[in-house]
Amino acid sequence: MTSHDIREKFINFFKERGHVQIPSSSLIPSGDVTTLFTGSGMQPLIKYLLGEKHSGGQRLTNSQKSFRAEDIDEVGDNRHTTFFEMLGNWSLGDYFKQEQLRWFFEFLTNEVKLDPNKLYVTVFDGDEENNIPRDTESVSIWQELFKGVEIEAKVVELVTEARGGEVGMRGGRIFYYNAKKNWWSRAGIPAKMPAHEPGGPDSEVFYEFTSVEHNPSFGVHCHPNCDCGRFMEIGNSVFMEYIKNEDGTFSKLAQQNVDFGGGLERITAASQDDPDIFNTDILKPLIDAIRKEAKTSNIHSERIVADHVRASIFLISDGVIPSNKERGYLLRRLIRRAVTHGQYLIGLPQGFLSTTIDTLIASYADVYPELVTNKNLIKEVFTKEQSAFEKTYHNGIKTFENIARDNHTISGEDAFALLATHGFPIELTEELAKHAGKTVDRIKFQEEIERHKEISKAGQEKKFGGHGLILDTGELKASTPEEVQKVTRLHTATHLMQQALRDVLGNSVHQMGSDITPERTRFDFSFDRKVTQEEIKKVENRVNEIVNKDLPMQHKEMKKEEAEKTGALFFFGEKYPETVKVYFAGNTLEDAYSKEFCGGPHVTHTGEVGKFKILKEEASSAGVRRLRATVE
Ligand code: SER
Repeated sequence: MTSHDIREKFINFFKERGHVQIPSSSLIPSGDVTTLFTGSGMQPLIKYLLGEKHSGGQRLTNSQKSFRAEDIDEVGDNRHTTFFEMLGNWSLGDYFKQEQLRWFFEFLTNEVKLDPNKLYVTVFDGDEENNIPRDTESVSIWQELFKGVEIEAKVVELVTEARGGEVGMRGGRIFYYNAKKNWWSRAGIPAKMPAHEPGGPDSEVFYEFTSVEHNPSFGVHCHPNCDCGRFMEIGNSVFMEYIKNEDGTFSKLAQQNVDFGGGLERITAASQDDPDIFNTDILKPLIDAIRKEAKTSNIHSERIVADHVRASIFLISDGVIPSNKERGYLLRRLIRRAVTHGQYLIGLPQGFLSTTIDTLIASYADVYPELVTNKNLIKEVFTKEQSAFEKTYHNGIKTFENIARDNHTISGEDAFALLATHGFPIELTEELAKHAGKTVDRIKFQEEIERHKEISKAGQEKKFGGHGLILDTGELKASTPEEVQKVTRLHTATHLMQQALRDVLGNSVHQMGSDITPERTRFDFSFDRKVTQEEIKKVENRVNEIVNKDLPMQHKEMKKEEAEKTGALFFFGEKYPETVKVYFAGNTLEDAYSKEFCGGPHVTHTGEVGKFKILKEEASSAGVRRLRATVE
C-alpha cells in the first residue's frame, strides 16, 4: 500500500467511528512554548486534553505534519526522519483503553492487512515512586484481541531495555517495560515532567521484519525495543489521564483521554514488509533521483539529503526562514547539511537539490495544498540559501581539509572561522570532523562566539563616540542622548507589554522577536489569531496602570538555573551565559509585575515610561503576531 492509501484508510476508519477530521496544524506551534516545532499530533490539542471543549467534539482524527529536531543525528538509518506525518486519533474524555486498542488492532489487521503474527505490543509496568500502577487492563485487552485471531499472547516482564537484551523474547507477545519506554508526556518520564504537565501510560505496537536478523551489537538477544531494526514501532496509544502537581505528586485528570499517534511512513513500510521507509511511495522517487545524479553511492548520505530537503520545504511553507536563531537556524542547518552530504560525500551537481522540490510538492499536493500555494516562496527561499552556501562551501571544505590533515582537534578559532567565513554551522564542522576521525573544541568555539559579540559591540560604541545605546541585539539603536532616553523608556515598556499580553491573552504568549528604535517598539509573539481591539485596549490599560504605580525597575544578577526558577521570562532558544541579569518591575523580585532575563538598560521607575500606546497589530508569520507601540 502507498502512504496515500494508508492515510486515507486511517482517517476514514476513524470517521466511521464517530471522529471528526481536523486539519494538520502548522509545524510552528502556536500557544506552546515548550518546543520549537510541532513534534506530534497531540501538541496542538493540549488544552483540550486538559478539559477545554473542542468545537469538533470529543472524537478527533487527523494526519499531523511533525518535525523532531532531536532526531537529526539519527537520520541515515532506514527508519528515522526529522519530518514525518503522524496519524492520530483522540478521545477527549470519551472512549478509553478498550475501544482504542481494539480499533487500532482492527485497523492494522483488517485495513492494512498486516499479519497479526508479526505484531508485538508493549505496556506500562508501573512507577512505584510516583504511585502509578502497572497497566494490567491493557494486557487483558491485548490478550483478548490476540485470542480473537488465534494467537496465545504470552506476557513477558522485560521492564528495562537492558534486561530485554539479556533475556530476549521468551516466546512473548505482550511485554512490560518501565516508564522510560511506556510512559508519554511532552517532557518524557514522570520525573522530568514540570508541574501542570499531563501524561500517561502508553501501549506501543511493533511490527516484526522477519527478514532482518538480530544484530548482537545491540544486545545479546532481540526484543521489541531493541534498536537492531528487526522490530519497528508503528503506533502508540497514550492513555492520558494524569497530571503532575506542584508538589511533584501525580493526580488523575478530570477526564480520561486517548492520544494515539502512528508514523505514516512506518505503517506504510510495514504494509510492504520492507523495513526501509525510504522505499515508500513519497521518499523512493526522491532517493531514485538522488542516486541517478550522484557520483558515489552512500545510502546514509542519500537518506540525509532526501530527509532534509523534504523537511526544509515543509518548514519554509509554514513560515520558517533560514537565520542564525532558533527555527531559522535549524532550517539553515538542514539545507547546509544536505548540500554538504549531497556534493561533498556523494558528488551531486550544484543546484541539484532545489530541482527535486517540484516532484516532492506534487506528491503532497492533495494532502497539503499549502505546499502548492507556497511553491514559489519555498523554491525561492530554499534556492537562495542553497546557492549562498554553495558559493562559500568549496573553500570551506578546502580549509577544513587543511586543518584536519594536520590536527587531531579542530580548534575553537578554526571552527569559528569556518562559521564566520564559510557559513559552516558548528554541528556540520563536528560531523565532518567525526567523519575524518577528529574532534572539535566546542568550548573554545563558544568562547570565540562570545568574544566576537563583545568586539562588535565595542566597535559600534567607538564609532558613535560613546553616546550610543546598544540593546541586547548588539545593534546600535540610538546615538543622541534624547534617542537613548526614548529607547530606554520603550525598552521598559516592552517588558511591561509582554506581561500585559500574557495577562490578557494567556501564557501561550511568548516573545518571538523584538526591535526598538526611538520611534517605536516592535514586538513579535506567539499567538494563533488576531488580537481584538478590545484586547488591545486591555493591554494598553494594564501597561498604563503599572506605569502609574511608578514601581521601581531593578535588576539582580544570578546563576542561570536560579534565574529560571524565579519564573522570569526569557527568549526561547537563545543561548544565555552562566550568569544572567533578571530585570523586574516591583519592590521585590518575588512579587514583581514583570521579570525577564535582560541586559538592560531600563528606566529606574516605571513612571518614567510615560503614556503607553499600541499603534498597530498584524500577522508576522504563521502563529506569530506583531505589535508596534510607542510612549508619549
Ligand atoms: N503523543 C504520542 C506520541 O507522540 C502519541 O500521539 O508518540
